[in-house]
Amino acid sequence: MDRPAENSRGEACLAVHPRLRSGGPGARTAAARLKEAVGLARAIDLTVRGAEIVGVRRASPATLLAAGGVEKLNEMIAAETAGIDVVVVDAALTPVQQRNLERACNCKVIDRTGLILEIFGARARTAEGRLQVELAALTYQRSRLVRSWTHLERQRGGAGFMGGPGETQIETDRRLIGRRIGRLRRQLQEVKRTRELHRRARRKVPYPVVALVGYTNAGKSTLFNTLTRARVTVRDQLFATLDPTMRALKLPSGREAILSDTVGFISDLPHELISAFHATLEEVRQADILVHVRDVSHPEAEAQKADVLAVLAELGVDAAVGDGMIEALNKVDLLRSGARQALANRLRRGNLAAVPLSARTGEGREDLLAALDDRLAAASSLVEVALAADDGATMAWLYDHGQVVERRAGDGAIRLKVRLGFADAARLAKRLRTNPH
Ligand code: GTP
Repeated sequence: MDRPAENSRGEACLAVHPRLRSGGPGARTAAARLKEAVGLARAIDLTVRGAEIVGVRRASPATLLAAGGVEKLNEMIAAETAGIDVVVVDAALTPVQQRNLERACNCKVIDRTGLILEIFGARARTAEGRLQVELAALTYQRSRLVRSWTHLERQRGGAGFMGGPGETQIETDRRLIGRRIGRLRRQLQEVKRTRELHRRARRKVPYPVVALVGYTNAGKSTLFNTLTRARVTVRDQLFATLDPTMRALKLPSGREAILSDTVGFISDLPHELISAFHATLEEVRQADILVHVRDVSHPEAEAQKADVLAVLAELGVDAAVGDGMIEALNKVDLLRSGARQALANRLRRGNLAAVPLSARTGEGREDLLAALDDRLAAASSLVEVALAADDGATMAWLYDHGQVVERRAGDGAIRLKVRLGFADAARLAKRLRTNPH
């Protein structure tokens, strides 16, 4: 049995990745999936005592794993003299499969959706994040109740338990959950509305928004810190970041931007969670530029990239892929020199909008900042203005907000050519209209 190093003191768990035949070409290797599941389990402070891939030829409706698989699981549990509290099954289990496995193993069983929900629950910091998690969790729970209820109903058929207390209890639970879901939806609407107001207020500040996106554990928070030198929680855990965190970012040209750190993406994120987190990722949709942070040292780096792009497309930001996106090829410090060279050659040949860097050592940081500067400059226009010689305030504003590329004095006026972002160009026009000289 693979024994991952222990790094937490929480409940003891075993992680199992059921390798289904239907994996298909291009699918991640089972080993990588298992490793990810171990990371997810640790993210909620479970102590992972063992991890194993279990082959599944045909998914069993009763337990997902075949009888041999269940037996193997029990052997793994029995081998742990200190006991196992939880078995993490890295797959979506039906309520019936979950319950049967719990009975067969005599311990708690948690599936992938449940695990991610736990992580979200543990990490949610904002009011909106918490509401979203609760909504997703209740929806998940309600579907379990409904399905397990129909299942029980079928089992009971003809046994004379129709309308028994169990059924009534489940009906009541469903009603209560339904009501709570309704309330949460209304609260969420309200929170979203206020956030929209905040966002509009911020938009009045003439800063472009740069959002860091990427696979969970790719190093977004580390890069965020390296770029802004701010302090946010960085942990070697998945999902250290749940709510968007924003900081001002000063670029080499003096241009300022707002940098936004976002929640990490994950492969096979259950669909109900994606929709619940749409609002959390709102910043991504509003961003002027996306920086896709990638862990290039990860064996599944390409599959991760595909996942992130797929999720972005699902969020309706495919337009950003291309012009508005820069790849930050992170963790180059972990690459051997040959692999580094190959990466550099590939980038030169492909002329990609990608910057190799290490968020940890700071290498490549300036290159990324320069690339952001270039992108933002490209998204701007060259404006010619004639100012009265004594209009020092507008002059200062122009130097603050744009790049002055030419300055000529004569005829009592100062003529400037300034590169301005689109929003700033509009603000300048308004300023000159309301404050003419
Ligand atoms: P989520 O919050 O889960 O989305 O993760 P994240 O993408 O914000 O990753 P985070 O910055 O928390 O980094 C994850 C782990 O990778 C941490 O242990 C970091 O120290 C490490 N890490 C980040 N960047 C680098 C890097 O350039 N080189 C190396 N060697 N490790 C890095």
